[in-house]
Amino acid sequence: MNPKIAIVAGSSRTGSFNRRLAMELARHLAKTDVKLTILDLADYPLPIYDADTEDENGVPNHALDLARQIARQDGLLLVSPEYNSSVPPLLKNAVDWVSRVRRIDDRPVLPFKGLVVGLASISTGQNGGMKGLEAWRPILRSVGAEVITAQCSVPRAREAFDEEGALADDRIRMRFDALLESLVDVSRSLARTMAQD
Ligand SMILES: Cc1cc2nc3c(=O)[nH]c(=O)nc-3n(C[C@H](O)[C@H](O)[C@H](O)COP(=O)(O)O)c2cc1C
Repeated sequence: MNPKIAIVAGSSRTGSFNRRLAMELARHLAKTDVKLTILDLADYPLPIYDADTEDENGVPNHALDLARQIARQDGLLLVSPEYNSSVPPLLKNAVDWVSRVRRIDDRPVLPFKGLVVGLASISTGQNGGMKGLEAWRPILRSVGAEVITAQCSVPRAREAFDEEGALADDRIRMRFDALLESLVDVSRSLARTMAQD
């Protein structure tokens, strides 16, 4: 069984380091038997979550589209910046909206339930965004995801990539290999989409 795994970066900034890291990790995953999907939050612009907005207009179509994409996956690799020792609003807002989706195409669905999630980060600071990843864990567990133990953070983002765009530090590359291996293995063993396709 080929696990379906999506990658999403928590920043859509031009020149985003997290986006670059997501693309580098995607390049590695593309060499495996994984069915890979790259989700770009720039394709899913959403208003800041507000219960009145939801009551008046329902869940926005972009949140439904994102939920549909996530519901198809066995695993998700979340590559997230750290903002003020916590999670960035762009990605948190997307998760909040998607967590409000209960039905897609007239079928009951909980988009995150049983989804295997791996966490990665890169930041210009010394800790690589590690505190942000710790902040993601309870959020993702509360929406029903299975967050794997392995995670990886890259400090000093400006020096992190070589001229080809690969990670420059061998030790960090090895940690990412371990993260990707664990994400693929657990996504394969807890696969939730076999019955859907
Ligand atoms: C509002 C804000 C808060 C930030 N807080 C942190 C922080 O707590 N820890 C950290 O390592 N970097 C922090 N940074 C720096 C980001 O890690 C850095 O801007 C990074 O490049 C953002 O990710 P991106 O390049 O993918 O957009 C912060 C940046 C912003 C804009």
